[in-house]
Amino acid sequence: PVTHYEQFFAEQAFNLDQLASTLLNEIAPPESEISFRRKLLQDLKRICQQLSPTAKLVPFGSLVTGFATASSDIDCVFFPGSEVTTEDEFTELPSLLEKKLQEEGFNAQLLTRTRVPIIKMVQKPTAENPQEIQCDIGFRNHLAIRNTHLLLSYSECDARVKQMVLVIKWWAKKRHINSPYRGTLSSYGYVLMILHYLINIVQPPVLPNLQLQRIPENTSDDEIYHKQGENIYNIWFSQDTESIQPSLNTSTLGELLRGFFDYYSYKFGWGQSVISIRTEGGLLSKQDKGWTAAKSRAANTVDGNETWEVKDRYLFALEDPFETSHNVGRTCNGPGTYGGVRRGIFFDDMVKLTGSIAGVARIRDEL
Ligand code: CTP
Ligand code: MG
Repeated sequence: PVTHYEQFFAEQAFNLDQLASTLLNEIAPPESEISFRRKLLQDLKRICQQLSPTAKLVPFGSLVTGFATASSDIDCVFFPGSEVTTEDEFTELPSLLEKKLQEEGFNAQLLTRTRVPIIKMVQKPTAENPQEIQCDIGFRNHLAIRNTHLLLSYSECDARVKQMVLVIKWWAKKRHINSPYRGTLSSYGYVLMILHYLINIVQPPVLPNLQLQRIPENTSDDEIYHKQGENIYNIWFSQDTESIQPSLNTSTLGELLRGFFDYYSYKFGWGQSVISIRTEGGLLSKQDKGWTAAKSRAANTVDGNETWEVKDRYLFALEDPFETSHNVGRTCNGPGTYGGVRRGIFFDDMVKLTGSIAGVARIRDEL
C-alpha cells in the first residue's frame, strides 16, 4: 500500500520534474556565449605567451564540465613555458601578467591573500558581445584541472548529473547561497553534494565511485600520484566511463531532486558528518578527520596591529576528492551556513513551493 507520505513525495517529485524541464531549456547559455568565452581564452593565451612564449593557459571549471550557466565565469590556469626556469622568475609572473592585462585594456586585479594567487579580470562589454565576461586566472593549479576532469567523467556516466547540477545551481543562485566570497558555498561545492547523493545515497545508485574502481595494471605512477610542494596526492580515478555499466536507477530528474532535498533536509548530519566522495559510503566524521574546532591565524597587520581571521571553519564539512585536507565548505560562515545553505535546504522552500502546479510557475518568478 502507498502511504500518504509516499504519495505526497511522488506529487512533489512530479512537480519538480515539470519545473526542471522548463528551466533546463532556459538555463543553458546560448552557443554564442560559449564561443565568446572561448575566443577570450584564445586572446588571453596570446597575451600570456608574450610573457613566456611556450606558456599554456588551460581552462577548467564549468566551461570544461559543461555545467556553465549564463553568468558563469571562465576559470583557467597559467602554466609557464620552459623559458621560466627559476622559482624567482615564476614568483614574478602573476604581477607581470596583471600589468600586461591592464595594458591590453582589461580590468585586472591580482589577489594574493587567497589560498593561491589569482588574477580576477573582466572583459568589458563590446559591440559584438554586450555582456561582460569574468575570468579567473590561477597559477600552477594541477589539482583543479584534475578535479574538473573527475566531474566531467561523472557527467559522462549519466545524463541526469548535468541536469541536476544545472537545476541546483539555478536554485542556489536564486536563493543567494552560491557566493563563496560572501559566506556561502561555491558551485563546485554544490556539485560535490550532488555527486555524494547520486553515488552513495540514492538506491540503486545513479553513479559508481570512479575513485574506487580497479586500477589497470599498466597505469603509471604519474597517473596515480601528484606531487605539489611537500604533499603527494592520490589523483587516480577511472576515466574509462565507456566501460561503466549504465545505472539500474530509473528515477526521473524530479524524483532525484526531491530525494536530494529530503536527504539534506532531514537525513544528512550537518553537525557531525563530512562528505567525502572518494570514500566508500561517502561519509566520514568530523571527529575522525579532526575537523572540529575552527582554526585562526594572524592576518596582515593593519597599522601595526595584528588582526586575526578565521582560516578554517567546519560548519559545513565537504572534503575535496583529491586534496583531502581542503574543506570545500570552509567558505560557509555562520550566517551563510545557518541562515543560508542549511536553511535554504532545511526549510525545503523549493520543494514546498512546488507543492502545487501554481507553485511551479510562482517559484520561477518569486524565489
Ligand atoms: N575549485 C577547487 N576548489 C574549490 C573551488 C573550486 O578546486 N574549493 C575548482 C574546481 O576545479 C572547479 C573550478 O574550480 O571545477 C570552478 O569552481 P566554481 O567556479 O565553483 O564552479 P563552476 O562549475 O565553474 O561554476 P560557475 O558556473 O558558478 O562558475
Ligand atoms: Mg567557474
